[in-house]
Amino acid sequence: MGKKWRLNTFLFILPFLASCKGPQSMFEAVGPESKAIAELWWILLGVSLFVCVAVFGFLIAAMIKRTPKRSRDEMDQLLGKSLGWATGVTVVILVTSLIATYEYSKPQVERGEPDLIIEVTGRMWWWDIRYLDSSGNSLFTTANEITIPIHKNILFKLRSEDVIHSFWVPSLGGKIDMIPGHENQLWLQADQKGEYRGQCAEFCGVQHAKMSLIVFAVAQAEFENWARAQRLPAQAMTAPLAQRGKIVFGEKGCVRCHSIRPDYQAKELGPDLTHLASRKTLAAASMPNNKGHLAGWIADPQAIKPGNFMPATALTPEDFKALLSFLRSLK
Ligand code: CUA
Repeated sequence: MGKKWRLNTFLFILPFLASCKGPQSMFEAVGPESKAIAELWWILLGVSLFVCVAVFGFLIAAMIKRTPKRSRDEMDQLLGKSLGWATGVTVVILVTSLIATYEYSKPQVERGEPDLIIEVTGRMWWWDIRYLDSSGNSLFTTANEITIPIHKNILFKLRSEDVIHSFWVPSLGGKIDMIPGHENQLWLQADQKGEYRGQCAEFCGVQHAKMSLIVFAVAQAEFENWARAQRLPAQAMTAPLAQRGKIVFGEKGCVRCHSIRPDYQAKELGPDLTHLASRKTLAAASMPNNKGHLAGWIADPQAIKPGNFMPATALTPEDFKALLSFLRSLK
């Protein structure tokens, strides 16, 4: 009996424990911000459990216990006692809330000058990412994937171009809304190398669920190499197929929404594709960036992310192959 009970309990809590791990979990805290949030969460859980057990304990006891006949005076005394308990619980909750608010609003590390400034703009349904210099000028643009050096103080400037989105990378820190016409700021730091998934945390339309991003935390030298490569213009294509693809890109309407530096400058409706092939994912981290997925995406983006703003493009098989080859060459 005892063994069976233990096994059942284990099986019951297993799914809950499983959901605590993974690439997008606030329990896998790797920065001062997220660690503070995780600690606070455990404290709040402890206090809530205590209050919950106490309240339900008394409630069950009251239901089970037979109530003797009581005089008026005894009833008054009981009422006084109950009020005492209720006040006690209220004070506990109030104090906990105050601690939570204080802990959450105080900065976790000393903020001086940021080591890196990244502007992220939420769009339906992807992330436009710009690395800025200290005067706020754009160094280069990318999309949906952010690379940062570890142990650095990073300032995120968060904006929106359409509706309210919310920037949230649970392993790195708390979420903050991206509001049209207003800039919010968030400081984050990663103390461990890794790949941390983020997700839009404010319902923003039909493809809200497929509005994810990935933060790659790497060593400083690796970051510098990556950033240097991102600043470069698209490399010159030599293969004839890719060269033809470049012409298809310009002629078949892709260029109306997507920029490829230096030859194609779009009105920024869609992600910058200058170094598309260097990214690990497509369509706001909703699928891996490989030939098959890219082909599927170009052929019918509406089947993959219904309602998104990219239309299917009518192409001959030769043009399709050429375009694919060109996009795959944008390392
Ligand atoms: Cu953007 Cu939800």
